[in-house]
Amino acid sequence: MAQPLVIAPSVLASDFSKLGQEVRDVVEAGADWIHLDVMDGHFVPNITFGPDIIAKLRPHTHKVFDTHLMIEPCDPYLEAFAKAGSDYITVHAEATTHLDRSLQAIHNLGKKTGVSLNPATNESCLEYVLDRVDLILVMTVNPGFGGQKFIKSQIDKVARIKSMIGDRPIRIQIDGGITPETAPLVTKVGADTLVAGSAVFKGGTVESYSENIAAIRKAAQV
Ligand code: DX5
Ligand code: ZN
Repeated sequence: MAQPLVIAPSVLASDFSKLGQEVRDVVEAGADWIHLDVMDGHFVPNITFGPDIIAKLRPHTHKVFDTHLMIEPCDPYLEAFAKAGSDYITVHAEATTHLDRSLQAIHNLGKKTGVSLNPATNESCLEYVLDRVDLILVMTVNPGFGGQKFIKSQIDKVARIKSMIGDRPIRIQIDGGITPETAPLVTKVGADTLVAGSAVFKGGTVESYSENIAAIRKAAQV
């Protein structure tokens, strides 16, 4: 099933000293969702923010909050991220021993589920959980930092996932190094949801965010 294109700016590349304003600005500039990168300094070599910050951001927009958990373990924190106002909660397949259980827990909290795969992880780990998944996040960089170079080997993985999911209404999201140059490489093979941090927040004004989002959206429509 083809899903409408979604552009989800990652606030990781925004000015953290004025996060609420940045969220409002990027929504005004045309963001479809807000992508929230949660890092623990353990699963990934960087630390960002947790559920309290997300809860504080929640009143700033009605847009979908797409929470990307780069934390291990993840299960003890799912309820807090649900209560904070996440709409999607994405966990890494590498960060949970019992992926099926984590996905059931997210659905039981009334939220949409996402599974993220690091670049070196084979998509075969998705096979037996496909009926519990609303979104599959293919990392096109090693998670932990914004502004890294897109890893091209992941294009084949996206194509394979697209054929695995068949008619299921599962979104295929790409995260890492998305620009107007790389966006069409993944939408061509089935991606419908694009995360972009540095390519959206460069320029630092609503006008530049708006141009940046429009450029990615235009390039992605192939
Ligand atoms: C990386 C994060 C990404 C990051 C992408 O671990 O998951 O969401 O913000 O940043 P760019 O778009 O700059 O590669
Ligand atoms: Zn992310």
